[in-house]
Amino acid sequence: MTASSSIPGPKGGLKLGLSLRDNGPATLTELYETYGDMVGFSIGRRHIVLLNKPEYAYHVFAGAAQKYGKSSGAKKVKSLLGEGLLTSEGEVWKKSRALIQPLFVNSEIRRQVPLIQDVLAEVSGRWCAAPGEGAGASAQANVIDLHKEMMRVTLTVAARALFSADLDEHVDVFRDSFGVAFEHVVKRLHALFDLPPEIFPTPANLKFRRAVRQLDAIVERILENRRSAGGCPAGEGNDLLGSLLHAASGDAGGALLSEKQLRDEILTLILGGYDTSANALTWAFYLLSQHPEVLAKVRAEADPIFAGGAVDADAVKRLECSQMVFEETMRLYPPVWVLARQANADDEIGGHPIAAGTMMLVSPFVLHRLRNIWNDPLVFRPERFRSEERVIQPRFSYIPFGGGQRHCLGRLMALQEGTLAIAYLAHTFDLEPVDPREPAFNASITLAPRGGMPVRVKRRERGRGAGPTLPARAMASC
Ligand code: HEM
Repeated sequence: MTASSSIPGPKGGLKLGLSLRDNGPATLTELYETYGDMVGFSIGRRHIVLLNKPEYAYHVFAGAAQKYGKSSGAKKVKSLLGEGLLTSEGEVWKKSRALIQPLFVNSEIRRQVPLIQDVLAEVSGRWCAAPGEGAGASAQANVIDLHKEMMRVTLTVAARALFSADLDEHVDVFRDSFGVAFEHVVKRLHALFDLPPEIFPTPANLKFRRAVRQLDAIVERILENRRSAGGCPAGEGNDLLGSLLHAASGDAGGALLSEKQLRDEILTLILGGYDTSANALTWAFYLLSQHPEVLAKVRAEADPIFAGGAVDADAVKRLECSQMVFEETMRLYPPVWVLARQANADDEIGGHPIAAGTMMLVSPFVLHRLRNIWNDPLVFRPERFRSEERVIQPRFSYIPFGGGQRHCLGRLMALQEGTLAIAYLAHTFDLEPVDPREPAFNASITLAPRGGMPVRVKRRERGRGAGPTLPARAMASC
Protein backbone atom coordinates (compact mmCIF):
# COMPACT_ATOMS: atom_id res chain seq x y z
CA MET A 1 0.00 0.00 0.00
CA THR A 2 1.31 3.47 -0.76
CA ALA A 3 0.25 6.23 1.56
CA SER A 4 -1.13 8.26 -1.25
CA SER A 5 -3.14 5.48 -2.96
CA SER A 6 -6.52 6.43 -1.50
CA ILE A 7 -5.85 10.10 -0.92
CA PRO A 8 -6.67 12.59 -3.66
CA GLY A 9 -3.66 14.24 -5.19
CA PRO A 10 -1.58 14.93 -8.28
CA LYS A 11 0.59 12.48 -10.13
CA GLY A 12 3.70 13.88 -8.54
CA GLY A 13 7.08 13.33 -10.12
CA LEU A 14 9.84 15.62 -11.25
CA LYS A 15 7.75 18.65 -12.19
CA LEU A 16 6.03 18.78 -8.82
CA GLY A 17 9.35 18.19 -7.05
CA LEU A 18 10.89 21.16 -8.84
CA SER A 19 7.88 23.32 -8.14
CA LEU A 20 8.06 22.47 -4.42
CA ARG A 21 11.75 23.24 -4.40
CA ASP A 22 11.51 26.55 -6.25
CA ASN A 23 8.15 27.82 -5.11
CA GLY A 24 7.16 25.87 -2.02
CA PRO A 25 4.52 28.06 -0.34
CA ALA A 26 2.63 28.73 -3.60
CA THR A 27 2.82 25.07 -4.63
CA LEU A 28 1.44 23.81 -1.31
CA THR A 29 -1.32 26.42 -1.46
CA GLU A 30 -2.25 25.28 -4.94
CA LEU A 31 -2.31 21.64 -3.85
CA TYR A 32 -4.66 22.57 -1.02
CA GLU A 33 -6.92 24.60 -3.30
CA THR A 34 -7.10 21.78 -5.83
CA TYR A 35 -7.38 18.72 -3.60
CA GLY A 36 -8.52 19.92 -0.18
CA ASP A 37 -7.75 18.88 3.39
CA MET A 38 -5.49 15.98 2.58
CA VAL A 39 -3.30 15.62 -0.48
CA GLY A 40 -1.28 12.53 -1.38
CA PHE A 41 1.53 12.36 -3.92
CA SER A 42 4.87 10.73 -4.55
CA ILE A 43 8.18 12.25 -5.47
CA GLY A 44 10.68 9.63 -6.49
CA ARG A 45 10.29 6.79 -4.04
CA ARG A 46 8.99 9.07 -1.32
CA HIS A 47 5.28 9.02 -0.45
CA ILE A 48 4.08 12.31 0.89
CA VAL A 49 0.83 13.44 2.49
CA LEU A 50 0.08 17.12 2.93
CA LEU A 51 -2.36 17.84 5.78
CA ASN A 52 -4.36 21.06 5.49
CA LYS A 53 -6.69 20.78 8.45
CA PRO A 54 -5.79 21.91 12.00
CA GLU A 55 -7.35 18.74 13.41
CA TYR A 56 -5.02 16.57 11.30
CA ALA A 57 -2.01 18.65 12.31
CA TYR A 58 -2.98 18.13 15.95
CA HIS A 59 -3.13 14.39 15.36
CA VAL A 60 0.42 14.21 13.97
CA PHE A 61 2.12 16.63 16.40
CA ALA A 62 0.20 15.90 19.59
CA GLY A 63 -2.65 13.36 19.57
CA ALA A 64 -0.72 10.49 17.96
CA ALA A 65 2.76 12.02 18.19
CA GLN A 66 4.24 8.71 19.33
CA LYS A 67 3.64 7.35 15.83
CA TYR A 68 5.50 10.16 14.11
CA GLY A 69 9.18 11.03 14.25
CA LYS A 70 11.38 13.66 12.70
CA SER A 71 11.50 13.25 8.95
CA SER A 72 14.37 12.02 6.81
CA GLY A 73 14.89 15.73 6.10
CA ALA A 74 15.77 16.38 9.74
CA LYS A 75 18.25 13.54 9.48
CA LYS A 76 19.96 15.36 6.61
CA VAL A 77 20.22 18.49 8.77
CA LYS A 78 22.30 16.43 11.22
CA SER A 79 25.39 16.96 9.07
CA LEU A 80 25.17 20.57 10.29
CA LEU A 81 23.44 20.42 13.67
CA GLY A 82 24.37 16.92 14.81
CA GLU A 83 22.34 15.71 17.77
CA GLY A 84 21.06 19.11 18.93
CA LEU A 85 17.52 19.65 20.17
CA LEU A 86 16.04 20.29 16.73
CA THR A 87 17.27 17.07 15.20
CA SER A 88 17.72 14.54 18.02
CA GLU A 89 15.07 12.05 19.09
CA GLY A 90 14.27 9.57 21.87
CA GLU A 91 16.34 9.59 25.05
CA VAL A 92 18.98 11.98 23.71
CA TRP A 93 16.30 14.59 22.96
CA LYS A 94 14.46 14.02 26.25
CA LYS A 95 17.60 14.53 28.34
CA SER A 96 18.62 17.68 26.47
CA ARG A 97 15.15 19.21 26.57
CA ALA A 98 14.90 18.57 30.33
CA LEU A 99 18.30 20.18 30.81
CA ILE A 100 17.73 23.24 28.65
CA GLN A 101 14.02 24.02 29.08
CA PRO A 102 14.32 25.54 32.60
CA LEU A 103 16.45 28.34 31.14
CA PHE A 104 13.65 29.35 28.78
CA VAL A 105 10.93 29.95 31.35
CA ASN A 106 9.37 33.39 31.73
CA SER A 107 11.40 34.44 34.78
CA GLU A 108 14.67 33.78 32.91
CA ILE A 109 13.54 35.34 29.66
CA ARG A 110 12.47 38.57 31.37
CA ARG A 111 16.09 39.19 32.33
CA GLN A 112 16.99 39.60 28.67
CA VAL A 113 15.12 42.89 28.24
CA PRO A 114 18.01 45.33 29.00
CA LEU A 115 20.38 43.33 26.84
CA ILE A 116 17.98 43.34 23.88
CA GLN A 117 17.65 47.13 24.14
CA ASP A 118 21.42 47.50 24.15
CA VAL A 119 21.73 45.39 21.02
CA LEU A 120 18.95 47.29 19.24
CA ALA A 121 20.57 50.60 20.07
CA GLU A 122 24.02 49.44 18.97
CA VAL A 123 22.82 48.04 15.68
CA SER A 124 20.48 50.86 14.81
CA GLY A 125 23.13 53.40 15.80
CA ARG A 126 25.14 52.18 12.80
CA TRP A 127 22.26 52.88 10.45
CA CYS A 128 22.62 56.60 10.77
CA ALA A 129 26.40 56.68 10.68
CA ALA A 130 27.87 58.89 7.98
CA PRO A 131 28.32 57.32 4.52
CA GLY A 132 31.45 55.22 4.47
CA GLU A 133 31.16 54.34 8.13
CA GLY A 134 27.91 52.54 8.76
CA ALA A 135 25.75 49.70 7.58
CA GLY A 136 24.41 51.77 4.69
CA ALA A 137 27.86 52.65 3.49
CA SER A 138 28.22 50.05 0.78
CA ALA A 139 25.04 51.06 -1.05
CA GLN A 140 23.90 54.64 -0.59
CA ALA A 141 23.71 56.57 2.61
CA ASN A 142 20.79 55.50 4.77
CA VAL A 143 19.81 52.49 2.69
CA ILE A 144 20.24 49.32 4.69
CA ASP A 145 19.42 45.70 4.02
CA LEU A 146 16.87 45.29 6.79
CA HIS A 147 17.00 41.50 6.60
CA LYS A 148 20.76 41.46 7.20
CA GLU A 149 20.42 44.00 9.98
CA MET A 150 17.70 41.99 11.72
CA MET A 151 19.98 38.96 11.54
CA ARG A 152 22.68 41.04 13.22
CA VAL A 153 20.24 41.97 15.99
CA THR A 154 18.92 38.47 16.62
CA LEU A 155 22.28 36.74 16.30
CA THR A 156 23.89 39.15 18.75
CA VAL A 157 20.97 38.81 21.17
CA ALA A 158 21.08 35.00 21.00
CA ALA A 159 24.83 34.87 21.64
CA ARG A 160 24.74 37.36 24.51
CA ALA A 161 21.54 36.15 26.13
CA LEU A 162 22.26 32.44 26.00
CA PHE A 163 26.04 32.29 26.19
CA SER A 164 27.11 35.72 27.47
CA ALA A 165 29.27 35.79 24.35
CA ASP A 166 29.94 38.71 22.06
CA LEU A 167 30.02 37.62 18.46
CA ASP A 168 30.70 41.21 17.39
CA GLU A 169 33.46 40.81 14.80
CA HIS A 170 32.32 37.27 13.97
CA VAL A 171 28.71 38.14 13.17
CA ASP A 172 29.27 38.38 9.41
CA VAL A 173 31.35 35.20 9.24
CA PHE A 174 28.81 33.37 11.35
CA ARG A 175 25.85 34.52 9.26
CA ASP A 176 27.59 33.84 5.96
CA SER A 177 28.85 30.41 7.02
CA PHE A 178 25.37 29.51 8.21
CA GLY A 179 24.02 30.72 4.88
CA VAL A 180 26.41 28.45 2.93
CA ALA A 181 25.81 25.46 5.22
CA PHE A 182 22.05 25.96 5.11
CA GLU A 183 21.97 26.21 1.35
CA HIS A 184 23.92 22.97 1.10
CA VAL A 185 21.56 21.17 3.47
CA VAL A 186 18.49 22.49 1.65
CA LYS A 187 19.88 21.37 -1.71
CA ARG A 188 20.26 17.88 -0.32
CA LEU A 189 16.77 18.01 1.18
CA HIS A 190 15.24 18.84 -2.18
CA ALA A 191 17.47 16.64 -4.31
CA LEU A 192 15.34 14.58 -6.65
CA PHE A 193 18.11 12.03 -7.16
CA ASP A 194 20.91 10.81 -4.91
CA LEU A 195 23.79 13.27 -4.56
CA PRO A 196 27.34 12.08 -3.86
CA PRO A 197 27.71 11.28 -0.14
CA GLU A 198 29.03 14.13 1.97
CA ILE A 199 32.36 12.43 2.56
CA PHE A 200 33.19 12.75 -1.17
CA PRO A 201 35.39 15.80 -1.82
CA THR A 202 33.09 17.42 -4.41
CA PRO A 203 33.34 21.24 -4.65
CA ALA A 204 29.92 21.56 -2.97
CA ASN A 205 30.91 19.23 -0.12
CA LEU A 206 34.23 21.01 0.37
CA LYS A 207 32.48 24.39 0.54
CA PHE A 208 30.05 22.97 3.10
CA ARG A 209 32.86 21.54 5.21
CA ARG A 210 34.69 24.86 5.16
CA ALA A 211 31.55 26.65 6.39
CA VAL A 212 31.03 24.09 9.16
CA ARG A 213 34.67 24.45 10.21
CA GLN A 214 34.19 28.19 10.55
CA LEU A 215 31.07 27.73 12.64
CA ASP A 216 32.85 25.17 14.80
CA ALA A 217 35.76 27.55 15.32
CA ILE A 218 33.41 30.22 16.64
CA VAL A 219 31.68 27.77 18.98
CA GLU A 220 35.12 26.60 20.11
CA ARG A 221 36.08 30.19 20.91
CA ILE A 222 32.90 30.70 22.94
CA LEU A 223 33.71 27.56 24.92
CA GLU A 224 37.37 28.40 25.40
CA ASN A 225 36.61 31.90 26.61
CA ARG A 226 34.20 30.59 29.18
CA ARG A 227 36.42 27.76 30.31
CA SER A 228 39.42 30.02 30.69
CA ALA A 229 37.25 32.29 32.83
CA GLY A 230 36.63 29.33 35.12
CA GLY A 231 33.42 27.99 33.56
CA CYS A 232 30.38 28.59 35.65
CA PRO A 233 29.43 26.36 38.50
CA ALA A 234 25.77 25.38 38.71
CA GLY A 235 23.40 27.71 40.42
CA GLU A 236 25.46 30.92 40.37
CA GLY A 237 23.36 33.28 38.28
CA ASN A 238 24.10 30.88 35.52
CA ASP A 239 23.41 31.40 31.83
CA LEU A 240 22.63 28.58 29.46
CA LEU A 241 26.29 28.02 28.62
CA GLY A 242 27.12 27.60 32.30
CA SER A 243 24.43 24.95 32.63
CA LEU A 244 25.56 23.13 29.52
CA LEU A 245 29.19 23.16 30.64
CA HIS A 246 28.18 21.90 34.04
CA ALA A 247 26.20 19.08 32.43
CA ALA A 248 29.15 18.20 30.20
CA SER A 249 31.71 18.31 33.00
CA GLY A 250 30.49 15.33 34.94
CA ASP A 251 30.17 17.47 38.10
CA ALA A 252 26.45 16.85 37.77
CA GLY A 253 27.10 13.17 38.55
CA GLY A 254 28.26 11.56 35.31
CA ALA A 255 28.44 13.73 32.20
CA LEU A 256 24.94 14.34 30.82
CA LEU A 257 26.26 15.82 27.60
CA SER A 258 29.21 14.74 25.48
CA GLU A 259 31.63 17.36 24.12
CA LYS A 260 30.11 16.84 20.66
CA GLN A 261 26.58 17.35 22.00
CA LEU A 262 27.73 20.53 23.69
CA ARG A 263 28.82 21.86 20.29
CA ASP A 264 25.59 20.64 18.67
CA GLU A 265 23.35 22.32 21.25
CA ILE A 266 25.21 25.62 21.07
CA LEU A 267 24.93 25.73 17.30
CA THR A 268 21.28 24.60 17.37
CA LEU A 269 20.28 27.25 19.88
CA ILE A 270 22.04 30.05 18.06
CA LEU A 271 20.50 28.96 14.79
CA GLY A 272 17.04 28.49 16.31
CA GLY A 273 17.38 31.83 18.01
CA TYR A 274 18.30 34.02 15.12
CA ASP A 275 17.20 33.06 11.62
CA THR A 276 13.49 32.64 12.38
CA SER A 277 13.22 35.78 14.49
CA ALA A 278 15.12 37.86 11.93
CA ASN A 279 12.77 36.79 9.16
CA ALA A 280 9.68 37.56 11.22
CA LEU A 281 10.99 41.03 12.08
CA THR A 282 11.87 41.82 8.48
CA TRP A 283 8.37 40.87 7.31
CA ALA A 284 6.85 42.85 10.18
CA PHE A 285 8.49 46.06 9.00
CA TYR A 286 7.49 45.34 5.42
CA LEU A 287 3.86 45.00 6.56
CA LEU A 288 4.02 48.12 8.72
CA SER A 289 5.34 50.10 5.76
CA GLN A 290 2.23 49.04 3.83
CA HIS A 291 -0.15 49.80 6.70
CA PRO A 292 0.50 53.28 8.08
CA GLU A 293 -2.66 53.09 10.18
CA VAL A 294 -1.21 50.11 12.08
CA LEU A 295 2.19 51.77 12.37
CA ALA A 296 0.47 54.79 13.91
CA LYS A 297 -1.12 52.55 16.55
CA VAL A 298 2.20 50.86 17.32
CA ARG A 299 3.78 54.27 17.82
CA ALA A 300 0.91 55.66 19.85
CA GLU A 301 1.44 52.81 22.27
CA ALA A 302 5.26 52.73 22.18
CA ASP A 303 6.08 56.46 22.35
CA PRO A 304 4.90 57.07 25.92
CA ILE A 305 6.38 53.78 27.10
CA PHE A 306 9.85 54.61 25.74
CA ALA A 307 9.63 58.27 26.72
CA GLY A 308 10.80 57.48 30.23
CA GLY A 309 14.06 55.82 29.10
CA ALA A 310 14.91 52.15 29.28
CA VAL A 311 11.99 49.81 29.68
CA ASP A 312 11.67 46.69 31.77
CA ALA A 313 9.92 43.38 31.14
CA ASP A 314 6.65 44.65 32.62
CA ALA A 315 6.66 47.53 30.14
CA VAL A 316 7.25 45.09 27.28
CA LYS A 317 4.08 43.29 28.38
CA ARG A 318 2.23 46.56 27.84
CA LEU A 319 3.37 46.73 24.20
CA GLU A 320 0.30 44.77 23.17
CA CYS A 321 -0.02 46.34 19.76
CA SER A 322 3.58 45.47 18.82
CA GLN A 323 3.08 41.91 20.02
CA MET A 324 -0.08 41.57 17.92
CA VAL A 325 1.81 42.91 14.90
CA PHE A 326 4.51 40.30 15.48
CA GLU A 327 1.95 37.50 15.80
CA GLU A 328 -0.05 38.60 12.78
CA THR A 329 3.16 38.85 10.77
CA MET A 330 3.95 35.24 11.62
CA ARG A 331 0.45 34.28 10.53
CA LEU A 332 1.00 35.70 7.06
CA TYR A 333 4.71 34.94 6.81
CA PRO A 334 5.44 32.05 9.18
CA PRO A 335 9.25 31.83 9.44
CA VAL A 336 9.01 28.03 9.47
CA TRP A 337 6.61 27.68 6.58
CA VAL A 338 6.49 23.89 6.45
CA LEU A 339 6.95 21.18 9.06
CA ALA A 340 7.68 17.55 8.29
CA ARG A 341 7.30 14.29 10.14
CA GLN A 342 7.66 10.65 9.18
CA ALA A 343 5.13 7.97 10.12
CA ASN A 344 6.98 5.34 12.14
CA ALA A 345 3.92 3.06 12.26
CA ASP A 346 0.80 2.50 10.20
CA ASP A 347 -1.94 4.94 11.10
CA GLU A 348 -5.21 6.35 9.84
CA ILE A 349 -6.13 10.00 9.32
CA GLY A 350 -9.49 11.28 8.11
CA GLY A 351 -10.51 7.73 7.21
CA HIS A 352 -7.43 7.23 5.01
CA PRO A 353 -4.72 4.70 5.81
CA ILE A 354 -1.23 6.10 6.34
CA ALA A 355 1.58 3.60 5.82
CA ALA A 356 4.68 3.58 7.99
CA GLY A 357 7.41 5.49 6.18
CA THR A 358 5.10 8.15 4.72
CA MET A 359 6.33 11.71 4.98
CA MET A 360 3.71 14.03 6.49
CA LEU A 361 3.81 17.72 5.66
CA VAL A 362 1.97 20.42 7.57
CA SER A 363 2.38 23.95 6.34
CA PRO A 364 1.81 26.85 8.74
CA PHE A 365 1.75 29.02 5.60
CA VAL A 366 -1.30 27.14 4.30
CA LEU A 367 -3.05 26.68 7.68
CA HIS A 368 -2.64 30.36 8.56
CA ARG A 369 -4.44 31.41 5.38
CA LEU A 370 -7.38 28.96 5.43
CA ARG A 371 -10.56 30.76 4.43
CA ASN A 372 -12.75 28.50 6.55
CA ILE A 373 -10.85 29.56 9.68
CA TRP A 374 -9.67 33.12 9.21
CA ASN A 375 -11.84 36.07 8.13
CA ASP A 376 -10.19 37.81 5.18
CA PRO A 377 -7.12 35.64 5.59
CA LEU A 378 -4.92 37.69 3.28
CA VAL A 379 -5.62 40.92 5.15
CA PHE A 380 -3.09 42.12 7.71
CA ARG A 381 -5.20 42.70 10.80
CA PRO A 382 -3.23 42.42 14.06
CA GLU A 383 -6.41 42.86 16.16
CA ARG A 384 -7.26 39.24 15.48
CA PHE A 385 -4.69 38.45 18.16
CA ARG A 386 -6.52 40.41 20.84
CA SER A 387 -7.14 38.01 23.69
CA GLU A 388 -10.92 38.06 23.20
CA GLU A 389 -10.63 37.10 19.54
CA ARG A 390 -7.87 34.56 19.78
CA VAL A 391 -9.85 32.23 22.04
CA ILE A 392 -12.00 31.33 19.06
CA GLN A 393 -9.08 30.11 16.97
CA PRO A 394 -9.31 26.30 16.69
CA ARG A 395 -6.27 24.56 18.15
CA PHE A 396 -3.44 24.02 15.68
CA SER A 397 -4.85 26.61 13.27
CA TYR A 398 -2.00 28.95 14.27
CA ILE A 399 1.30 27.15 14.66
CA PRO A 400 4.26 29.44 13.92
CA PHE A 401 6.08 27.73 16.80
CA GLY A 402 4.98 24.20 15.92
CA GLY A 403 3.04 22.21 18.49
CA GLY A 404 2.99 19.20 20.77
CA GLN A 405 6.03 18.08 22.72
CA ARG A 406 8.45 19.31 20.04
CA HIS A 407 7.07 22.85 20.08
CA CYS A 408 9.55 25.68 19.94
CA LEU A 409 11.68 25.96 23.03
CA GLY A 410 12.36 29.65 22.36
CA ARG A 411 8.76 30.84 21.93
CA LEU A 412 8.72 33.21 24.91
CA MET A 413 12.15 34.56 24.07
CA ALA A 414 11.13 35.16 20.46
CA LEU A 415 7.87 36.89 21.41
CA GLN A 416 9.58 39.21 23.85
CA GLU A 417 12.44 40.04 21.50
CA GLY A 418 10.14 40.53 18.51
CA THR A 419 7.72 42.75 20.44
CA LEU A 420 10.46 44.91 21.86
CA ALA A 421 12.28 45.25 18.53
CA ILE A 422 9.12 46.30 16.67
CA ALA A 423 8.17 48.86 19.29
CA TYR A 424 11.67 50.29 19.69
CA LEU A 425 12.48 50.53 16.00
CA ALA A 426 9.04 51.91 15.06
CA HIS A 427 9.42 54.47 17.85
CA THR A 428 12.87 55.50 16.69
CA PHE A 429 12.93 55.27 12.89
CA ASP A 430 11.01 55.69 9.68
CA LEU A 431 11.73 52.55 7.64
CA GLU A 432 10.62 52.62 4.05
CA PRO A 433 11.32 49.70 1.68
CA VAL A 434 13.02 50.88 -1.49
CA ASP A 435 10.64 48.67 -3.47
CA PRO A 436 7.12 48.75 -1.98
CA ARG A 437 6.04 45.55 -3.76
CA GLU A 438 5.86 42.35 -1.75
CA PRO A 439 9.31 40.73 -2.00
CA ALA A 440 9.49 37.31 -3.63
CA PHE A 441 10.05 34.44 -1.23
CA ASN A 442 13.26 32.64 -0.60
CA ALA A 443 11.58 29.62 0.98
CA SER A 444 14.33 27.25 2.04
CA ILE A 445 13.91 25.95 5.58
CA THR A 446 12.71 29.38 6.64
CA LEU A 447 10.76 32.04 4.76
CA ALA A 448 12.99 34.98 3.88
CA PRO A 449 12.59 37.82 1.38
CA ARG A 450 14.55 36.89 -1.73
CA GLY A 451 17.49 39.24 -2.18
CA GLY A 452 17.08 40.78 1.28
CA MET A 453 15.04 43.90 1.95
CA PRO A 454 16.64 47.24 1.07
CA VAL A 455 15.06 49.91 3.23
CA ARG A 456 15.54 53.68 3.51
CA VAL A 457 16.12 54.49 7.12
CA LYS A 458 15.65 57.87 8.72
CA ARG A 459 15.65 58.93 12.32
CA ARG A 460 12.05 59.74 13.09
CA GLU A 461 11.07 63.36 13.46
CA ARG A 462 8.88 63.42 16.47
CA GLY A 463 6.70 66.42 16.97
CA ARG A 464 4.18 67.29 19.50
CA GLY A 465 4.12 65.08 22.54
CA ALA A 466 5.46 61.95 20.94
CA GLY A 467 8.00 61.42 23.68
CA PRO A 468 11.44 62.93 23.50
CA THR A 469 14.11 60.30 23.59
CA LEU A 470 15.40 56.86 23.00
CA PRO A 471 15.80 54.72 26.08
CA ALA A 472 18.44 56.28 28.32
CA ARG A 473 20.70 53.21 28.62
CA ALA A 474 20.19 52.30 25.00
CA MET A 475 21.00 55.48 23.15
CA ALA A 476 21.41 55.04 19.41
CA SER A 477 24.25 57.25 18.24
CA CYS A 478 22.43 59.10 15.50
C1 HEM B 1 10.04 33.86 15.62
C2 HEM B 1 10.92 33.02 16.09
C3 HEM B 1 10.81 31.53 16.06
C4 HEM B 1 10.01 30.70 15.32
C5 HEM B 1 8.97 31.09 14.31
C6 HEM B 1 10.35 29.34 15.69
C7 HEM B 1 9.73 28.23 15.17
C8 HEM B 1 9.97 26.93 15.60
C9 HEM B 1 9.24 25.78 15.16
C10 HEM B 1 8.11 25.78 14.15
C11 HEM B 1 9.75 24.70 15.80
C12 HEM B 1 9.25 23.25 15.70
C13 HEM B 1 10.00 22.48 14.65
C14 HEM B 1 9.39 21.09 14.45
O1 HEM B 1 8.40 20.75 15.05
O2 HEM B 1 9.96 20.35 13.64
C15 HEM B 1 10.83 25.17 16.64
C16 HEM B 1 11.61 24.37 17.43
C17 HEM B 1 12.67 24.83 18.16
N1 HEM B 1 13.05 26.14 18.35
FE1 HEM B 1 12.13 27.77 17.57
N2 HEM B 1 11.35 29.38 16.63
C18 HEM B 1 11.65 30.68 16.89
C19 HEM B 1 12.59 31.15 17.80
C20 HEM B 1 13.40 30.37 18.56
C21 HEM B 1 14.35 30.83 19.52
C22 HEM B 1 14.56 32.30 19.91
C23 HEM B 1 15.01 29.73 20.00
C24 HEM B 1 16.12 29.62 21.03
C25 HEM B 1 16.97 30.49 21.34
C26 HEM B 1 14.43 28.58 19.37
C27 HEM B 1 14.83 27.29 19.59
C28 HEM B 1 14.16 26.17 19.14
C29 HEM B 1 14.53 24.81 19.48
C30 HEM B 1 15.71 24.40 20.34
C31 HEM B 1 13.60 23.97 18.87
C32 HEM B 1 13.54 22.45 18.95
C33 HEM B 1 12.65 22.06 20.09
C34 HEM B 1 12.55 20.56 20.29
O3 HEM B 1 12.39 19.82 19.33
O4 HEM B 1 12.61 20.17 21.45
N3 HEM B 1 13.46 28.99 18.51
N4 HEM B 1 10.94 26.53 16.52
